[in-house]
Amino acid sequence: MTLPAKRIAITGAAGQICYSLLFRIAKGDVYGPDQPVILQLLDIPQAMEALRGVLMELEDCAFPLVQGIVATDDPVTAFKDADAVFLVGSRPRSKGMERADLLAVNAEIFKVQGKALNEAASRDAKVIVVGNPANTNAAILAAHAPDFPAANITAMLRLDHNRFLSQLATKADVAVRDIEKAAVWGNHSPSMFPDWSNAQANGKAISQLIGDEAWYRETLIPTVAKRGSAIIEARGASSAASAANAAIDHMHDWINGTDGKWVSMGVPSDGSYGIPEGLICGVPVTCEGGVYTRVEGIEIDDFARKMIDLTCAELKDELDAALGR
Ligand code: NAD
Ligand code: LMR
Repeated sequence: MTLPAKRIAITGAAGQICYSLLFRIAKGDVYGPDQPVILQLLDIPQAMEALRGVLMELEDCAFPLVQGIVATDDPVTAFKDADAVFLVGSRPRSKGMERADLLAVNAEIFKVQGKALNEAASRDAKVIVVGNPANTNAAILAAHAPDFPAANITAMLRLDHNRFLSQLATKADVAVRDIEKAAVWGNHSPSMFPDWSNAQANGKAISQLIGDEAWYRETLIPTVAKRGSAIIEARGASSAASAANAAIDHMHDWINGTDGKWVSMGVPSDGSYGIPEGLICGVPVTCEGGVYTRVEGIEIDDFARKMIDLTCAELKDELDAALGR
């Protein structure tokens, strides 16, 4: 028996990340190979012609799971009855541009989209914000969607998490799949904190396998934290395929579960670990039955405390600036 289709809303549909994301979602990478989907694509009026080209390409793939595609420049139409929402569209950072410059433009976009989400999306919809500054955009979205469950509004830290896993795996000479309990805390920005204090591979502490605290602090942390800028420098454009992959990992795991493994998600703070409420902050979570749960009881040493406080202070400043406080 065919399952009823899931409605997946995706913004920034004519952009670079979506040029990878849409095709993987259509193939079944989020909900699985038996779940039909209806794609509800949003972009701005000036991008409609480019989006028409993407639609032709989607059509030309003849994806068996795609039951329908809506392309629109109206957020209420795009979010109508959505089960999953990928908010990718925003103004991307280009060479030499500071993240702070993005705040005002994007606050306005996410205010409008928050209102539309509030009006139109299913109350169970799972929302990921990818567009930068992702954590702050997610907080603005939540502030303008008072009737929508705030816990279902998340920001993407998964790209940072995946970058962290790859760097650890290479240095420790282990497989990525064998690494557990790695976490990225805070803002999706260079202030983020990739935390190896609990990370293990095959039951052994990664810190002991690598045995080089100076490498961790002076090379690994900045490499992960500044990877986005390094890619912009090299490509002349923001990461796209790896960002789409991370968005799929985030939503796939939230829906299907992580089997006890830790992953990093930007979620609304409940005040735990001294993270101020009101922020949407990267923390380690596990997912089961369509629900994410913060990992509790992690010991925070002095170094981690300092790093988490720094990234949270930046998040608070960003949010204050975006809200004009
Ligand atoms: P892009 O410029 O190629 O595409 C952005 C798309 O969004 C464009 O088609 C644009 O027309 C559209 N858009 C702009 N305003 C919109 C609105 N109000 N509603 C709907 N669509 C709108 O950019 P990209 O490379 O696809 O990147 C998108 C965003 O993702 C950027 O902000 C980028 O910095 C961010 N990003 C985040 C991460 C992360 O880890 N969180 C990683 C990579 C990129
Ligand atoms: C990334 O981490 O690759 C992006 O968020 C970089 C950016 O600023 O677009």
